[in-house]
Amino acid sequence: MSDTLATNVPTYPFGNAGLDPLLPDLGPDGVGRVRLPTGQQAWLFTRHEHLRELLRSPDFSSDFTRPGFPLIRPIPEDMPRRPDGSLIRMDPPEHTKFRRMLTPEFMIKHIRTLEPLIRQTVVDALEQMRAAGPPADLVEHFALPVPSMVICHLLGVPYADHDYFQERSRILLAWSSPPEQVRDAIEELRDYLARLIADRRDSPGEDLISRLAAERVATGEMTEEELVGLSVLLLIAGHETTSNMIGLSTLVLLEHPEQLRQLRERPELIDDTVEELLRYLTIVRTGLTRVAVADTDVGGHRIAAGEGVIALLSAANRDTDVFPAGAEFDLHRGSHQHMAFGFGIHQCIGQPLARAELRIALSEMITRLPGLALAVDADEVRYRDAVVFGVQRLPVTW
Ligand code: HEM
Repeated sequence: MSDTLATNVPTYPFGNAGLDPLLPDLGPDGVGRVRLPTGQQAWLFTRHEHLRELLRSPDFSSDFTRPGFPLIRPIPEDMPRRPDGSLIRMDPPEHTKFRRMLTPEFMIKHIRTLEPLIRQTVVDALEQMRAAGPPADLVEHFALPVPSMVICHLLGVPYADHDYFQERSRILLAWSSPPEQVRDAIEELRDYLARLIADRRDSPGEDLISRLAAERVATGEMTEEELVGLSVLLLIAGHETTSNMIGLSTLVLLEHPEQLRQLRERPELIDDTVEELLRYLTIVRTGLTRVAVADTDVGGHRIAAGEGVIALLSAANRDTDVFPAGAEFDLHRGSHQHMAFGFGIHQCIGQPLARAELRIALSEMITRLPGLALAVDADEVRYRDAVVFGVQRLPVTW
């Protein structure tokens, strides 16, 4: 189907109005066309089996500099379009090479060694929140600082600079940010990390950026520019995602008091709870974008080379063929087939870290704050109008 043939197509993205993702009626096979803010059209896939097919197919590229790549927001003409080092926008063989360099750093084995630090960070943040209230904003005092401190520790970024990078990453992800502001935020983050990398090259520490600078940049396997791109991605992905998950997860648990009671009684349910929260919330709500690099088929639909596609994780994670009553939150369902971390070669490299943070943060929070409750009505909670779904603030009491 060419762009010129499809008319009356819905406008994408659909917005973040509440815990249930918005979705137009696409008919039984859940495939449709959407119009993007750039005026382009793209295919939209929502079924679990179609996403598995699409996301593991070598016929699609993640490289946003390719013609036809579906852009979910307009970008300024003069913005440099470089996928350099930013793993998520790279294709094999470069992607494979970079991913291998990072894999050991994020393996479960390595993340286990970080657990005492994560726990201490969680406990300290809970104490600080206690000191600030009740009531207090759980996002400001707990959900945002914990993953930010952990990723700072891992990368060797001074946490004292958190206002600087959090503000720029907020601008970068907000739908309402004008394209020029987004461009400036990216360039400022790049400059900030370029300076930090230069520092670490001259006086290395025990952190990931120092290691990559010494072992990969110095040997010529990675350019300094690529390390900058990779560090920006890790810094943003490392705190924005988990932080939004902690805020939203707290809201969902408080809104399901019977399941929260069961979790308090049986702490061993925490792993299943985290998986179900990941499925139910699917914070990467805008889905994953790709462009076809060859004529290909997905779910019996012919996609021409150069056409853009969107894989809507939030819909696939509620596909009732795989998750019966998928719109319900049920921590007993066993949600291991969810795609909240994506699927295929780009599947989230940070998932062991995210899972450890969520498990520790939520367990400690419900144990240490047995009287935790919302300080406002649930329908007063405002959601973020951003690429990554979350709550703006979460006023709580205990
Ligand atoms: C990739 C989700 C936490 C780093 C992805 C992708 C998703 C995702 C859906 C796939 C993107 C694509 O295929 O285009 C999440 C969620 C998280 C989370 C829901 C938290 C609950 C983290 C953390 C880190 C991280 C803590 C880092 C430290 C990355 C990186 C990629 C990625 C580097 C790119 C991997 C690649 O392209 O090979 N994430 N993420 N993420 N994530 Fe996460």
